[in-house]
Amino acid sequence: MSVLSGGRVWRAICYSEARAGTPAEEEIMVGNQLANEPSPFKRTGRWTDKPRSYPALSADIRSIAALGRIVKSAGYSEAAIREARGAQIMQSHNSADSPRHPKRLAVPTPLSTLIKLFALRAVVREEEARAAFFPLPVEEVEEMGLVESRLEGIQSCVGLSEFDGLLLAHDPHHENVNDFGSEYVPGINPTSVTLAGVTVRQPVHRALDLGTGCGLQALLAARHSERVIAVDANPRALNYAAFNAGLNGLTNIECRRGDLFGPVTDCRFDLIACNLPCVISPESRRAFHHSGLAGDTISEGIVRATPAYLSKGGFASILCNWTHARDEHWSSPVQNWVEGAGCDAWLLRHDTHDPLTYAALWIRNRNTIEYERTLQRWVGYYQRLGIEAISAGVLTLRRQTPRLNWFRADELPVGSGTLQPWKN
Ligand SMILES: C[S@@+](CC[C@H](N)C(=O)[O-])C[C@H]1O[C@@H](n2cnc3c(N)ncnc32)[C@H](O)[C@@H]1O
Repeated sequence: MSVLSGGRVWRAICYSEARAGTPAEEEIMVGNQLANEPSPFKRTGRWTDKPRSYPALSADIRSIAALGRIVKSAGYSEAAIREARGAQIMQSHNSADSPRHPKRLAVPTPLSTLIKLFALRAVVREEEARAAFFPLPVEEVEEMGLVESRLEGIQSCVGLSEFDGLLLAHDPHHENVNDFGSEYVPGINPTSVTLAGVTVRQPVHRALDLGTGCGLQALLAARHSERVIAVDANPRALNYAAFNAGLNGLTNIECRRGDLFGPVTDCRFDLIACNLPCVISPESRRAFHHSGLAGDTISEGIVRATPAYLSKGGFASILCNWTHARDEHWSSPVQNWVEGAGCDAWLLRHDTHDPLTYAALWIRNRNTIEYERTLQRWVGYYQRLGIEAISAGVLTLRRQTPRLNWFRADELPVGSGTLQPWKN
């Protein structure tokens, strides 16, 4: 089935889960699949600094793939961005000192133009943009929703990151992503990288990326899986994920919108990667970091639910935050969650903090009065729930039945890059 939208076709390969046996390939328009939902591109809340309606990342799949090839062949990569910025200045995409970066990139080459556009969000001259996107007309890139024409020149509407050879479009960097509620789609962050590193990489039939965001885990899994389902509650996230699949020429990712495992209730997976918002906080709104659920409910719920979605021998890696008593071993609660689940379990701890330190680490970039109020609120919340310590890490499960399962807890090695700790 191919669906038209505004005269443009946005095709992705969709495998119908309803049909068993040989997967039926269907062409679907991801945006249209969500057509009955409120438009993901109508901004709500505090999108005050956006010049126009949010990008509708829809276009001909061939043009998207062509754009991906153009950007990659220009040499656009995190290393190139780092070098262009200067090795020491690696902070945010729009830090206060960003005006100095375009000076470093004064000589226009396709690469420097792309970095200015997508990493620094600088306005570039139209001729520069034309040269950088050639042979794709800049008008086509604008139609995709990636850039827009302004009086002063061309500016990007999205951020563009590179990870392990993959290009990922996402919302531009903002210091306080949680101010944007559940609609905001950030790029790659340290937790994404941790999950990517721990995920077991072996050829599999079917993989799930739960809480896909801009699709990083799904795209990585698509390289060694026949089929990947990317689930997110946020339709804007799915739009980015589908677009990014096209940008990297990947055709085996299906995007499904819904709550947690809701869109995949009848499926079993050989691989699950899960990075849902699991920060423990009093924030009641679902947002990038916050589930809106009390304490560590989201982490416990996902860990307890996951084994039922794993096929025999299947692996799941789940980022978690959990609470425990000060004098209790940090791994105890998670060990309880997996008790009797029919899975071997390896918990890798990233860190443990007292509530005040944990809160201080998450509450950032606010003015002093707001910071203090928020800190009080968070700490008061931990006191009310009797929370003494909070740990963070990643749990990997392997479904193995019927035999005695084991549980092991270790420290997550720092800076180790890709981990492949599982041996049969
Ligand atoms: C921390 S981001 C993960 C992004 C990406 N997986 C990565 O590793 O970089 C969490 C994502 O989970 C999604 N999400 C939050 N609550 C959800 C829910 N109840 N069901 C499905 N997705 C949810 C958010 O919309 C967001 O895109």
